[in-house]
Amino acid sequence: MHTEEKHIDEARQGEALMTAPTRNATKKLFLESYGCQMNFSDSEIVASILNNEGYQTTQKVDEADLILLNTCSIREKAEQTVRKRLGTLNAIKKQNPSLKIGVLGCMAERLKHKFLEEEHLVDIVVGPDAYRDLPNLINDVEDGRDAVNVQLSKEETYAEISPVRLGGNGVTAFVTITRGCDNMCTFCVVPFTRGRERSRDPHSILNECKELAESGYKEITLLGQNVDSYLWYGGGPKKDFKNATEIQKATAVDFAQLLDMVATQFPAIRLRFSTSNPQDMEEGVLEMMAKHKNICKYIHLPVQSGSTTVLARMNRQHTREEYFELIDKIRRIVPDCALSHDMIAGFCGETEAEHKDTLSLMEYVKYDFGYMFAYSERPGTPAHKKMPDDVLPEDKKRRLQEIIELQQKHSAERMNGYVGKVHEVLIEGNSKRDDKFWYGRNTQNAVLVFPKVEGTKIGDFVNVKANSCTTATLIGEMVEA
Ligand code: SAH
Ligand code: F3S
Repeated sequence: MHTEEKHIDEARQGEALMTAPTRNATKKLFLESYGCQMNFSDSEIVASILNNEGYQTTQKVDEADLILLNTCSIREKAEQTVRKRLGTLNAIKKQNPSLKIGVLGCMAERLKHKFLEEEHLVDIVVGPDAYRDLPNLINDVEDGRDAVNVQLSKEETYAEISPVRLGGNGVTAFVTITRGCDNMCTFCVVPFTRGRERSRDPHSILNECKELAESGYKEITLLGQNVDSYLWYGGGPKKDFKNATEIQKATAVDFAQLLDMVATQFPAIRLRFSTSNPQDMEEGVLEMMAKHKNICKYIHLPVQSGSTTVLARMNRQHTREEYFELIDKIRRIVPDCALSHDMIAGFCGETEAEHKDTLSLMEYVKYDFGYMFAYSERPGTPAHKKMPDDVLPEDKKRRLQEIIELQQKHSAERMNGYVGKVHEVLIEGNSKRDDKFWYGRNTQNAVLVFPKVEGTKIGDFVNVKANSCTTATLIGEMVEA
């Protein structure tokens, strides 16, 4: 069950990125990431930029010359975690005055100069679109100048920067296809911290996938705040597409076309994508999922609330009924598709009846997984400016608990539905509990563990019959195809 940071392995929060030794590396970088998958992916770009400057990553804080925290602002709790961590790092800095500490990511973007004024131990503040400037900023700080760059960009996609990958399992990787978000959901800080939505050149996406395939990767997740909104027309913000030339419009590549290109070019690679936004999910994408066996049958489709009136206050661009229509369409075109959601309990003005609508929506869909949160007011967002955060804390907590319990019931039902069936599983690593077992996922993103069989290795696709399940894991055994 995922009740915490979404898409995020809770175990990975604060993980330090470790890359292979580079020649000419003279300085040590400790780079820690918090928050969503996009941040973990961005850290790989940062490591790549700094590798070129002679920085080698380390997992030992004590030996670092430079410490960077890639931060998250999505909920207040995420920011508190980073503040606490900065407090701890302060102690190290006292012993090693030449050590430099920087904050990257959403919290850097949100707090800007305040970081230097309030948290005196921070030397460098860099927003998500300014990582190319890091080498200059590091020089500035060495020369005793303030080093802040929180400029957001309409074009930056880090398209040609080849991220370093060695933190993972060598089998699954993330490839960023869009940055920023234009949706302006009233509760959300992302449009302010990550700027306008823009798409990455499909050629550079295909190149990155090719490099991954050649390095032995077997699964790629295309990443964006709103992947279905992907639209390449030569660069620039999505919102300016209307001003594009006729030729640009005629040759534009949308998400369904991108999926088709990647899936066709790399038939041996499993493809996933995240995150889908209900308002932008087109039938074309579903048709590609039905057409290509290597596109996984799983959609993360956040809804946030089951009530049309709450959805309107959240500035989500669809009603409850329209969401049901989309669900019906998915079930029709991709019948075996798994679905997961993000849900917010206790948004501004949420009544008991509106909360009940959320529960009944969940009953309708019966999601495989859910990422569920209590509403956390974020400074500067439209909700913070215009709507009181007026649901009593105890009501928020109880409603969240009801949502979580219902999701647990549905997850258990879904998992039980997979028992007795044979699943194609990509072996991703050892089972955490027992290294005599492999760990992997099926196309629906359900986790399977099963005893190792001689001759199998990480990166193999194998057939596994699920014999039983716990709430989150299927337990099985390998079988012949
Ligand atoms: N489109 C993005 C959403 C990022 S935010 C994506 O890539 O998935 C992830 C989730 O955090 C949101 O879907 C929402 O459920 C939750 N969230 C965002 N702002 C929140 C807030 N102020 N309080 C509680 N949860 C929030
Ligand atoms: Fe946030 Fe809504 Fe975009 S949740 S990231 S503004 S789709």
